[in-house]
Parts: sequence; C-alpha cells; structure tokens
Amino acid sequence: MEKSINLTLKVWRQASPTAKGKFETYSLKNISTDASFLEMMDILNEQLVKEHKEPVAFDHDCREGICGMCSLYINGHPHGPDGEITTCQLHMRNFHDGQTITIEPWRSAAFPVIKDLVVDRGAFDKIIQAGGFVSVNTGGVPDGNAIPIPKDKADEAMDAASCIGCGACVAACKNGSAMLFLSAKVSQLALLPQGKVEAARRAKAMVAKMDELGFGNCTNTGACEAECPKNVSLSNIARLNREFLKAKFKD
Ligand code: SF4
Ligand code: FES
Repeated sequence: MEKSINLTLKVWRQASPTAKGKFETYSLKNISTDASFLEMMDILNEQLVKEHKEPVAFDHDCREGICGMCSLYINGHPHGPDGEITTCQLHMRNFHDGQTITIEPWRSAAFPVIKDLVVDRGAFDKIIQAGGFVSVNTGGVPDGNAIPIPKDKADEAMDAASCIGCGACVAACKNGSAMLFLSAKVSQLALLPQGKVEAARRAKAMVAKMDELGFGNCTNTGACEAECPKNVSLSNIARLNREFLKAKFKD
C-alpha cells in the first residue's frame, strides 16, 4: 500500500572537478514509497529550483537497469541497500519515515568527480578500446548452428556479458580495482570461438591499460561481486588470470 515518508538527505555537492566538495542537508516531505530513488532525486531538484538554488547533478539514462549510468553511492553502498539492482531500480519503500540518506558519487581515483554526483567513467571506455572487441575478419553472418558452442559456455559468456559497465565494483573495492569489470569483458569474448583468436593479446592489452589508468590491485575481498547489480561472478576474475598467464607463457 502506498505510503508517504519524510526524509533528510545528505548530498555531496561539488561545483567542479577541482572545487572542494561538501555535504549539504535537505529535507523532503511526503515522498511516496512507490517512487523510485531517481524520482525522489527529481523531486529534490524541483524543490531546489523553486527555492532558486542549483539542482543536484546526477547521472541517469535508461532508468531500466540497462545502461549503467545511475552511479550513486547510497548509505555506504553503490546502488543503495537493496541487492542486485541499479539505483534507478531502487524504490523508496526500502527506506523508512524519518530516515537520513547519505548520497555520494563513486569514490575512486580513476573516476574523478565532474560535478556533484557525476563522475567521469571514461577510464572504462579506454580499457575497452585497448582490446575489448573482435577485430579479426569473421566473414559474413554464419548460419545459426554453423559454429557449435556448448550450452554451458554460451551461458557463461552471456552471464559475463550482463555487465553494464556501471563501475559499482570499483566504487565498492577498497583498492579501487576494476578487475570484475575487466574480467567480465575479457570472459564474454574468451569463452566464444570468435573471441579466442585474440584472447592472449586482448587480456594483456586490457590489463596493461587498467594498470596505466590508476585502478588498484585486486586482493580478493569479494566486495565487487557482493555489490554488482548484475551479479557478475568472481569466477570471471579467475578466468582473466588464466588468460593473462597463458598470454605471458606464449610470450
Ligand atoms: S561487473 Fe558489475 S559492478 Fe562492475 S561494472 Fe559490471 S555490472 Fe557494474
Ligand atoms: S539509468 Fe540506466 S541503469 Fe540506471
């Protein structure tokens, strides 16, 4: 049943990448528990505009859990307290009347803040550009069953491909490691015949780019898997390590 709740928001405000940021406190009244978290942020911004104040900058696009844009760190969790969902799928029924909600941007050296809650995740694009693709000529579109792929391999590749590049794994990691993201991108190709041809070169180039961009080392804490909205498995990191070692042996 729909209910209304009153909230106190502590929101990170930062005017520019070089400005000193700080938390601002706002009160919101009569928020429907059926509202999504981003709708609640829209209501906050409408309130700020009416008060002739600068609205809060935050990223969003699809609002369907697909694009990975809605990167908010809510009460100490990337994408908030509910498991296996993105911020845009989080609803206000997960909060209670009178609660204080702290909202921060992703905190990672590799994801600098652009403004308020918006961070630059261009480092992920650079990792993909280093090798997250198939560049060999695979010819025309083959018949559906011309390349037999075992069902378990197809399933594992699809699971890895469910990574939406949101960056929650980096934000959750005390080392700021991008290994879960990178391993998903390597795995989705390494598991399929079309991706195997360049697997060694791909793993080496993407790992080198990740290191160059200032992401931290993986120390297997598992925080990334626990906070990933798409349930991307740590087993992908083990696969990435195997692919990387194979590439080194080939050298
Ligand atoms: S592995 Fe999960 S948390 Fe990391 S970028 Fe992909 S979807 Fe987001
Ligand atoms: S806005 Fe696209 S995943 Fe949340």
